[in-house]
Amino acid sequence: MTTVLFVHGFPFDHLMWRHQVGALPGWRVVAPDLRGAGAAGGPNAPARYSVASYADDLIALLRRIHVKQAVVCGLSMGGYIIFELLRRFPDRVRGVVLCNTKAEADTADVKRGRDALAARARSAGAAAVAEELIPRLLSDATRENRPDIVREVREMIERQPVAGIVGALHALRERPDSTPVLSLIRVPVLVLAGDTDVIAPASVMKEMAGAIPDAEFVLVRRAGHLTPLEQPLVVNAAVGDFLERRG
Ligand code: MLT
Repeated sequence: MTTVLFVHGFPFDHLMWRHQVGALPGWRVVAPDLRGAGAAGGPNAPARYSVASYADDLIALLRRIHVKQAVVCGLSMGGYIIFELLRRFPDRVRGVVLCNTKAEADTADVKRGRDALAARARSAGAAAVAEELIPRLLSDATRENRPDIVREVREMIERQPVAGIVGALHALRERPDSTPVLSLIRVPVLVLAGDTDVIAPASVMKEMAGAIPDAEFVLVRRAGHLTPLEQPLVVNAAVGDFLERRG
């Protein structure tokens, strides 16, 4: 049975994939919490968090459960970690789904924003992080019409340990540019974008898909940065169809 490894984004845990994990009968689904997220535990020192350490943890997990190769599906930071897997462990990757992510590294301005958010997390806790991020994470349509999704996202962020949030912000600001990886990908890729995502804009994702030799691009309507939670049925159909044909 083929394994699908789900890699969550920031600042979330594996439950951001809750609509997907039950929707793929016939596939072995693995959706861990990354170090410092959810119930995983993690070091206090921000320097111990990087896309490399997250990727090492995932490879250690695959070894523990005796999986040689998996289809990897990541959202945003999860995508950045998948680029690291593709750089260092390409033989472990059988196919890729990239949701709401981009290949470029942070600009100096974005890095300054990461530092400010880390300081805010330390002084005011995860609730302040939720307050700051939610307007950028969810589409206007979701924020106006789906209070249940807004609450779910807020609660997920609020339960994340501050050390993990600060560590992830360090990993994000230090991640390398992954654009050189794109043309080297030798497996099928599905790229899923939200039509109103302001963090990984659909136009940037479409261009990224164009730089990958074997990529399909799907635009998810009425979705911001969290397509798997905002439009689960559309995402499940697209991922299920991709796995069926290319997994
Ligand atoms: C994520 O969802 O993982 C974050 O939005 C990533 C980022 O801020 O670059």
